[in-house]
Amino acid sequence: MNRRSLSMLLLLALATCRQEDMYSQEKAVGWGKFFPFPGRMTMQHPVPGTVARNPADAPVPQPPEITAAMLARGRRQYNINCVPCHGQSGDGEGMIVQRGFPKPPPLFNDRLIKAKARHFYNVITHGHGVMYSYADRVAPADRWAITGYIRALQRSQHAQVAELSDNDKQHLQESNP
Ligand code: HEC
Repeated sequence: MNRRSLSMLLLLALATCRQEDMYSQEKAVGWGKFFPFPGRMTMQHPVPGTVARNPADAPVPQPPEITAAMLARGRRQYNINCVPCHGQSGDGEGMIVQRGFPKPPPLFNDRLIKAKARHFYNVITHGHGVMYSYADRVAPADRWAITGYIRALQRSQHAQVAELSDNDKQHLQESNP
């Protein structure tokens, strides 16, 4: 086949592709399901033994188990990155908001208490409405740690005195004589 007829053939092959079909065809998207992959999940764990170039940036596709060390890390990261707007308790009255930045919803409102952990991970990663993305400042593992700490903040709003340790009960009595 000479070059000219080869290019004609290629043109014909291209002409038969319809953009809509390619757009709407089955494909793997973000956190979604994808039949041919193991567990039907698009996002797969890295192959065992994979070494991340920068461990802090290694993908963490599923929420890890919550540990005390992770909560402590989440608290630190929350206080550094989120408190200026969301406030220490998550009420949305941070210093920047008091100076005129749009007020975020309380992190412990009913909707966010019911929201999946992944929602918080995604908000930190991609931003939400007027809140910009924190992907370049908060590493993936820390996004889960902050999410864990937000769960603790949510719980703290509805805690019963009876659930506290003796030590905490005493602190409470001392601070509210
Ligand atoms: C500069 C201020 C600012 C900072 C810093 C900030 N946020 Fe936000 N955040 C907002 C505002 C404003 C909204 C409301 C956005 C909207 O609805 O348009 C918001 C919304 C949210 C929501 C609610 C999303 C929903 O479903 O309504 C979550 C969760 C959240 N932020 C988490 C975080 C976390 C975690 C951090 C720290 C890593 C953080 N934010 C840092 C301003 C901020």
